[in-house]
Amino acid sequence: MGLLRSLPMLLVVLLIWISHLKAQSTSPARALDALLQDYAFKAFVRPKTGIPYDGIVPSNLAGIKIAAMRLRSGSLKKRGVPMFKEFMIPTGVVESPYVERLVLVYQNLGNLSMKYYPLAGYTYLTPVLGLLAYDASNLSATNLTELYIRASGEPITIHFPDVQSSPAGANAKCVWFDLNGLANFSSLASGNVCSTFEQGHFAIVVESFAPAPAPVFPTPPSGGAPNAKKTNKKVWIIVGSVLGGLLLLVLLSILVLWAQKYKQRKKMQQMEKAAELGEALYMTSVGETKAPAAMVTRTQPTLENEYVP
Ligand SMILES: *[C@@H]1O[C@H](CO)[C@@H](O)[C@H](O)[C@H]1NC(C)=O
Ligand SMILES: *[C@@H]1O[C@H](CO)[C@@H](O)[C@H](O)[C@H]1NC(C)=O
Ligand SMILES: *[C@@H]1O[C@H](CO)[C@@H](O)[C@H](O)[C@H]1NC(C)=O
Ligand SMILES: *[C@@H]1O[C@H](CO)[C@@H](O)[C@H](O)[C@H]1NC(C)=O
Repeated sequence: MGLLRSLPMLLVVLLIWISHLKAQSTSPARALDALLQDYAFKAFVRPKTGIPYDGIVPSNLAGIKIAAMRLRSGSLKKRGVPMFKEFMIPTGVVESPYVERLVLVYQNLGNLSMKYYPLAGYTYLTPVLGLLAYDASNLSATNLTELYIRASGEPITIHFPDVQSSPAGANAKCVWFDLNGLANFSSLASGNVCSTFEQGHFAIVVESFAPAPAPVFPTPPSGGAPNAKKTNKKVWIIVGSVLGGLLLLVLLSILVLWAQKYKQRKKMQQMEKAAELGEALYMTSVGETKAPAAMVTRTQPTLENEYVP
């Protein structure tokens, strides 16, 4: 049947569509990284090395803070950076691929943390802070790819100044998002300090008491929550339509299979009937003289004629 044969094709199309959605869903945070790299680099006007420069974000990103610092890579490795905002960078941090000078970009996502780094089942006790590194050879370059930085000795530490108090009995944890957006949890180094050996985004979180989603840290009087709700709703609509589509597909294939089976059964019945009819006719023709009405009682004539003890 045509429909049944095109089912695998339909499934493939559906799968491609789903993977496309999935690929798209990882992009907002990465798009933000690219945008903030651009705005952070704009903070540099004849920059001195080793000095943090605060950047200005566009008004649609109000609530986010950024800063940038240019460094010689040799100096980063030998001396580290005692304090770059909340980040304490020890000696021994190296980047790859190697560049002569690099720019460290700092991000504080503030009240937009939840929007860009939604974390189901957890509540943020701090904003999400980011530390990323870029090649400093062209300060007007955009869309740069991040350098991979790694602490070869002591870890980089993040000192969160204001940690919301966690509910009694709840266990606060550090979360680290790598550049693919994958979350990895670790225990706090101390009350408000997390540590890392790599670049990425960091925060202190606590498991929410399911099922009620706990509120975010400092929510502004308006704006943030509805926005998060909107993205949430969008995700649900997508998930819902995907599931609905799949269900429809399953129902359709069941219907097709059932129709096929029904057709087959009907055919079988017809064949049976035909066979029966044939047999009956045969019987009547055999025992014509004895049983002209054998159509109804087809076995009787045989019994009478051919019964062998
Ligand atoms: C730096 O990047 C900008 C933007 O991509 C480009 O227009 C410019 O030519 C680059 N400069 C150098 C020296 O590569
Ligand atoms: C960065 O690249 C993306 C596509 O890769 C493009 O859409 C965007 O305009 C670029 N941004 C800038 C500032 O060049
Ligand atoms: C996450 O953390 C665990 C424990 O620290 C580590 O073993 C694992 O490799 C980490 N995962 C990633 C993706 O780095
Ligand atoms: C975040 O807070 C800033 C003020 O710090 C405010 O201007 C902005 O509208 C807020 N954004 C959202 C999405 O809540």
